[in-house]
Formats: sequence, structure tokens, C-alpha cells
Amino acid sequence: MASVPQPDLAPQAFIQALASVVGAQYVLTAKDDVAPYYTDWRHVFAGTGIAVVRPGSTEEVAKVVALCATEGIAIVPQAGNTGLVGGSIPTGMRKEIVLSVSRLNRIRSVDPLNDTMTVEAGCVLQTLQEAADAAGRLFPLSLAAEGSCQIGGNLSTNAGGVGVLRYGNTRDLVLGLEVVLPDGRIWNGLKALRKDNTGYDLKHLFIGAEGTMGIITAAVLKLFPKPSSSTTAWIAVESPQKAVELLAALRGLMGDRLTAFELISRVCLDAVIHCKPSIPDPLPGRHPWYILAELTDGGKQEDLAARAEAAFIECTERGTLLDVALAQSEGQAKALWSIRETIPEAQFTNVKHDVSVPISSIPRMIEEGLADLQKAFPGLVGYIFGHIGDGNLHYNIGMADEEATRALMDKRKAVNEIVYAVVAKLGGSISAEHGVGQQKREAIKLRKSPVEMELMQRVKDALDPHGLMNPGKVL
Ligand code: FAD
Ligand code: MLT
Ligand code: ZN
Repeated sequence: MASVPQPDLAPQAFIQALASVVGAQYVLTAKDDVAPYYTDWRHVFAGTGIAVVRPGSTEEVAKVVALCATEGIAIVPQAGNTGLVGGSIPTGMRKEIVLSVSRLNRIRSVDPLNDTMTVEAGCVLQTLQEAADAAGRLFPLSLAAEGSCQIGGNLSTNAGGVGVLRYGNTRDLVLGLEVVLPDGRIWNGLKALRKDNTGYDLKHLFIGAEGTMGIITAAVLKLFPKPSSSTTAWIAVESPQKAVELLAALRGLMGDRLTAFELISRVCLDAVIHCKPSIPDPLPGRHPWYILAELTDGGKQEDLAARAEAAFIECTERGTLLDVALAQSEGQAKALWSIRETIPEAQFTNVKHDVSVPISSIPRMIEEGLADLQKAFPGLVGYIFGHIGDGNLHYNIGMADEEATRALMDKRKAVNEIVYAVVAKLGGSISAEHGVGQQKREAIKLRKSPVEMELMQRVKDALDPHGLMNPGKVL
């Protein structure tokens, strides 16, 4: 890393210089004003900075970044601050500002014939889904935080969510980017092209970089045909093995119409019902595992419904599923999805993991992981759910009561080690969709090859030689 420029300006003069770029009301320093920016959604990470700066345009972002580059001040980019690995929170290892992109919230254009929209980084994801819908199109990125996460954060974490099975991760939904580089220059890569082989595809350096390479200010996103029919099913299965067999069977019978396939353990359903007692259990009887599946298509609702029903009858006859409840209305479908979306808040306190393994290894991940954990921590409870259509499990570990869970959280490293050992044995990843942030920075060093780590560091140094972009994250 090249030596960091030394500050010329006294702290107050630096704040005034920031204010002269963005306006004094958008440089926050008062304790109550900065508090929401300095801690994360789960209150696991907390930090402080010189100020929170809220530019209103790409040009203002560029001027703020250039000023920080001259003064050797590091920048923590922040969007909706719903990240789960501490990526958007200052670490205190350098003098830092938080740069919030939330005022960059314009939809610059929607082009239904090209199936694209060009949007700024601070647009809330749900607003983008609604804008696509209003244009008769679908923007398929969907996650429980969609009412508050912003597309700049989604791009920077390469967010996954519940539509990956059909539409891919955020990375797959992008055609172009606009980025402010660590020296303050603007790279305008806002191409709306599906084919462009003119050298390295630079946008992929910034997607999933968690703010360590530059600041994404805008993007060209892909739109898709809006499905005209959908079927939502709550399905009981005997085991994770049956769940992956059901996934294969439904993909065979329904093809790409299967858009979501979420695994939910009975333990998670019980936690949801405990958290929100008004939520009914969708099926009679208790079953150990459930799947929330969504099928979508063009064409008539009755055609998809008939096809889905035939598929579920066939899977019942084959013994792949135990029972199924089909939503009979949009309201019922929403109610089933609200069970899934309530899981994160229903089991807020636990040792979180976000792992992926090949889909065929999901049963081993669950069974062998829990067996190894039980040996070390008798009585522990696995709050296991996730996007198993993508091989992604949220493998959250707690104890039967909150006090014991808090005690377990003090031993989180030991819990992590056991889970990560099974992940490694199965050729998996310790961060499927949430990223590395501060939380997994040390852990990835031990699990990625030296060649891979060196390449990552060289790319980082080439783009950010002074290490001013989000220090203490990822690398
Ligand atoms: P932030 O938290 O603000 O930032 C995330 C990272 O991106 C940080 O490292 C930050 O520095 C960087 N960053 C932010 N904006 C920029 C920018 N403009 N330029 C450069 N870097 C930037 N995640 C999933 O993948 N799938 C899920 O299903 C899912 N479900 C969730 C459910 C709940 C209830 C919650 C609370 C979180 C969930 N998440 C999920 C995690 C989180 O919502 C995602 O990681 C999301 O993409 C973060 O977006 P954000 O706008 O909140 O970003
Ligand atoms: C989810 O799928 O709900 C999320 O990724 C959030 C979580 O893991 O808690
Ligand atoms: Zn998830």
C-alpha cells in the first residue's frame, strides 16, 4: 500500500470543506443525528467517525471523495444499513467518514423496450420493484429487508434473496454501473447493453466489493416480463433429503416456473408463531421441515394452477412430500411469505451463519453440522432456514432460552469453527450472500488460498493504493 496523504486541514476546517460541497445540513456530527449510521440493524457492530456526509449527486460524491483522498481520510460507504456483517459501520482503525448514498435516490430512466432501468444508488429496493411494476415489468431482486435496503448496498453485497433460483444474484441483474473511484474520478459505465466484449468487464470488480473499491452511484438494471400467474405453496417434508429431492422433482416437472424454494425448519416456524401469535400454522399437524415454494408463469392463472396441482399430486404419490397447502388468493400468498419474512426478527439473538454448499450436500450440512455441534454444546438448537434452491442455508445456532443463547454467543468462535469445518468438508462457502464485512475478514483469510488472497489484495491496491475505501472490511 502506498503511503497515505497527510491531512492539511484541521478537523473543523475539514468539516467546513465537506459542508461547502454538500451543504451544512448534510454533514451530520451531532450525537443523535449520527447514531443510526454508526450501528448496524442487529446492534452487533458499533463505531464512530468524523461525520456522516450525505451528498445529493454523483458530482458531490466525487468532490467529497477527492477531498478525502487529499486529506487521507477513509470512507465508509453506506446505503440502507441493513447489512449483516458490519460492512457499513466504521471500524475506528482509521480516521473515517460515513458517506451515505441515500439522497441519490432518483430513477433516471425506465426503458421497457430494452427491459432496463437506470437508477441511483440510494433508491430503496421496494421503490424499484414498484417502478418496474408500474412499467409493466418485473425487477426480481427480493429480500425481507427490501423496504429499507438500497440498490447501492444490494450491488455492493451482491445480494441474493428469494428469487435467485430463477433470476440469479444481484450481479446477474446489472448491465452497467457508474462509480466514483477512490481518487474522486467518475467512471461512467452506464451501458444498457447485453453484449459488450470490449475488454475486462469492470463493473464486476465493484459488485460484491462491499465498498472497498469505490462508491457505486448509479446502475443500469435488467427488467423481466411480469408474470401473469403465480402459485404459492406451503409444503411439509420429512427431511432435508426429501426437500432436495422435491426441488429436483419440481424443477423437472415445472422447469423455470419454480422461482423460489425456501427451506424452513419447524423450530423456525415455532419461533415465528411465538414472535407473532396471530400468524396461523398453515398446515394441520406438526412436521419437521417445510418448504415455501413459488411458481410463476405467463399465461392464465388456471393453467399454472392446474399444472402445479398435478405436480404436487405426483410428488405426494412418489412420497417426496407429506402435505401441501396452496394459497387460494394473493392475500393467502402474502400471509405465507410473511412467515418466511418474519424469521430473521423471530430469532434475532443467535450465532448466525450464512453458508452455501452444493444442493446435493444440504442434508449432510444440516445433519453432520448439528451432530458435531451437539457434541460440543449439548442442548443447542439449530434455527435453520434458507434459500436451498441456491444451496444457501442460514445456519443459526442458539440454545433453548435467551440467557443460555447469550452465553453461547460468547463462544461464537468455537461454534463458527465447527460449522465452517463441515462447510469446508463439503466444498462450501462461509459467506453465501451476506458478504465478508468486518465479521468474516479473519475467517476468509484462513479459508481462501494464498493465491486467491494475493490476487484480491493486488486488485484492491491497484484501485485504492492508499487503502481509503472502507478499511477493515473484506481484506
Ligand atoms: P448497507 O448495509 O448500507 O451496506 C452494505 C455494504 O455495501 C457495506 O459494506 C457498505 O459499505 C457497502 N455499500 C453500501 N452502499 C454502497 C455504495 N453505493 N457503493 C459502494 N459500497 C456501498 N441479504 C441477502 O443477500 N439476502 C437476503 O435474503 C437478505 N435478507 C435480509 C433480511 C433482513 C431482515 C435483513 C435485516 C437483512 C437481510 N439481508 C439479506 C442483508 C442485507 O439486507 C443485504 O446485504 C443488502 O444488500 C444490504 O443493503 P443496504 O442498502 O442495507 O447496504
Ligand atoms: C434471510 O434470508 O432472511 C436473510 O438473509 C436474513 C438472515 O439471515 O437473517
Ligand atoms: Zn437470506
